[in-house]
Amino acid sequence: MISFITRLAREAGRICLQRQTKLNSGDLTFKSPKDLVTVTDKEVENFLVKEILSTWPDHGILAEETGETKGTGPFRWIIDPIDGTTSFVHNQPFYAVSIGLEINRDPVLGVVYAPALDQMFVAELGKGAFLNGKPIRVSETLNISHAVMATGFACLRSGLKENNLPHFNRIAPQLRDIRRYGSAALDLCYTAQGTLDGYWEMNLNAYDICAGVVILKEAGGIVTDFKGGTNYPRNGIAAANPVLHSQLIHCLNPSSFISGVEP
Ligand code: 2AM
Ligand code: CA
Repeated sequence: MISFITRLAREAGRICLQRQTKLNSGDLTFKSPKDLVTVTDKEVENFLVKEILSTWPDHGILAEETGETKGTGPFRWIIDPIDGTTSFVHNQPFYAVSIGLEINRDPVLGVVYAPALDQMFVAELGKGAFLNGKPIRVSETLNISHAVMATGFACLRSGLKENNLPHFNRIAPQLRDIRRYGSAALDLCYTAQGTLDGYWEMNLNAYDICAGVVILKEAGGIVTDFKGGTNYPRNGIAAANPVLHSQLIHCLNPSSFISGVEP
């Protein structure tokens, strides 16, 4: 299964690289005033869906551009053909093909491939997480003042009133520094790899995070919603190494005591 998915992800990445430098404005459409989708998002998704269904016709699929294809068995694939479409359109390298697999709605496998960086992140439940075949692990940073974290602003693109800016204003000054890569899948993988110490964002969807969450957990990371519960990404997503995670949750809830999640 893993070799099938990594082969698909690599092939999908090859399509992205071929198309990225040749994009023109006619290749873009808008889901909302700031929400871009390119012909390549659709081409890559169609490729992945076709390959999966021709191999496993009974599997279900949830994918960003085409939505839900119901299956008849326990398997469901969660696909974001290009996570970080804005980076892709602006010729930046931080975008990735993200493929997760669930059994009975439990994520069991994740592959995130960033073609412009040739970074292939892979994890399978209980078998550890890997970058280009080498094991990865979350950072050992113990204090938020020594941490570099990432966040994102999907909420702004959606024009939501309740957005991430108050959290950003509160948390960024407490960190060593902040990054904004523009791909939730890669933010989770970089936290898994330990090059980031943590990541939080709101207003994401299952396809943005499914594969990255498996990779992060297998690398020893903790992922919850903003309250420390399991309702992510609906109620926000907060990911970090086990020590920093509780500090991050505390920062996201400055005025309330979160039982069991003391900093
Ligand atoms: P995308 O590139 O596939 O759209 C960046 O902050 C992260 O948020 C990316 O994973 C991006 O995925 C996602 N994102 C950006 N705008 C969004 C929106 N309006 N709704 C949901 N997700 C969004
Ligand atoms: Ca996405």
